[in-house]
Amino acid sequence: MDVQIKALQCVRCGEKYPPHPRATTCLHCREDIDRPGILDLLGEDPSDSPALKEIILHPDRSKGIWAYEDLLPVEPDFPRMTLGEGHTPLLEAPGLASFLGMDSLWLKNETMHPTGSFKDRVAAMVVAKAREAGARTLILVSSGNMANSVAAYGAVAGLETVAIVSPKVSRERLNTIAVYGGKVVRVNGTSSDRLSLCFRAAEQFGWYNANSPHNPYGPHGAKTIPYEVFAQSGGESFDWVISPVGFGCNFVGNWKGFEDLLRLGMIPRIPRLAAVQAEGSPSVVRAFEMGREEGIPGPQDTIAGGISQVVTPNSILALRAIRASEGTAVAVADEEMLAALPLLARKAGLYAEPAAAAALAGLKKLVGQRKVRRSERVLLMISGSGLKDPSSSLPAKDLSFPLIDPSLSELERTIRAG
Ligand SMILES: Cc1ncc(COP(=O)(O)O)c(C=O)c1O
Ligand SMILES: [Zn+2]
Repeated sequence: MDVQIKALQCVRCGEKYPPHPRATTCLHCREDIDRPGILDLLGEDPSDSPALKEIILHPDRSKGIWAYEDLLPVEPDFPRMTLGEGHTPLLEAPGLASFLGMDSLWLKNETMHPTGSFKDRVAAMVVAKAREAGARTLILVSSGNMANSVAAYGAVAGLETVAIVSPKVSRERLNTIAVYGGKVVRVNGTSSDRLSLCFRAAEQFGWYNANSPHNPYGPHGAKTIPYEVFAQSGGESFDWVISPVGFGCNFVGNWKGFEDLLRLGMIPRIPRLAAVQAEGSPSVVRAFEMGREEGIPGPQDTIAGGISQVVTPNSILALRAIRASEGTAVAVADEEMLAALPLLARKAGLYAEPAAAAALAGLKKLVGQRKVRRSERVLLMISGSGLKDPSSSLPAKDLSFPLIDPSLSELERTIRAG
């Protein structure tokens, strides 16, 4: 499948480049950092390979995402490292389904990753390519999760990580990056300013650009999710897959994974892909509604850091994925994410961060709009854990914990009072 990468192709101007582990964005489409020419991988025409199907059906879980190595764009002779990423549970959530009046509902629990988010799949891939490139230092812009992942994988691979973050990222999140040994630099300005600085530093200092999806290999880490979903669901297909969209790496990765399954003849069609964004950062949703091919730059006005960008860098492919799959895009308010978060915890036992709870908020909205029917089979991408940054999960004013003396009657009175 992708093993034989023939070329990298700019999604904006179509220019082709030879595959290279240091490739980032198209050289002709770089002037506007908000509208980069993301390079897409053109692979060999797939054959109907029984060996590849077997890998998808019976992956060797001990290898993390490298269980799927034969389907991933990596050179065969480099050492791989895994921290046990991937192979996350596919959970049926009957309590949540019945709360929403749906016949069924499924959750891909990406909070189970070593550093708590799906980004570990992406980091495993990007760090593998950095090693192919002989890099010593990785640099990226992150809202926290990708930097955590890259710092963890980079550290074990013996690489230094420089994480450029917004001053809005909470201290809890920064602490974990630092514990992995990552060097955190808080940079003022917009997400575009930080990306621009990251690209300039990578060029000037020869550091490896580990941004997803400016690194064309990033989405290929995320494309392992549909492979797993296929095997875990016994091949039963989904009508909808609903995911939060920030940089667009996860969403486009999912599309690629389902495309692989389609090309291998394992699924009859790609599920309808629904992109969820924050109302305060809706670049793909606006473009979808206006019939545009590229995300529309806008504000970054949301509490959900993972989906807060001036514009989704991988918007061209994300919009193609939505349209090709007859999917949709929906924006949710911060309050809707904050309402979905405890709902997910209480009805399904998953503690997500706001950007991940956005998938459930999006489903609620789409069901309300009758775009998703209650009888349809829906998969929600629960992309990251709330445990890394618990302060983001509930407004502080909602948290008050009574303090009592060790008296049974006081305990009873307190509990009964609610
Ligand atoms: C928890 C979580 N969900 C979703 C996203 C969005 O993923 P992507 O940037 O690949 O669109 C992110 C990105 O940081 C994230 O951290
Ligand atoms: Zn281009």
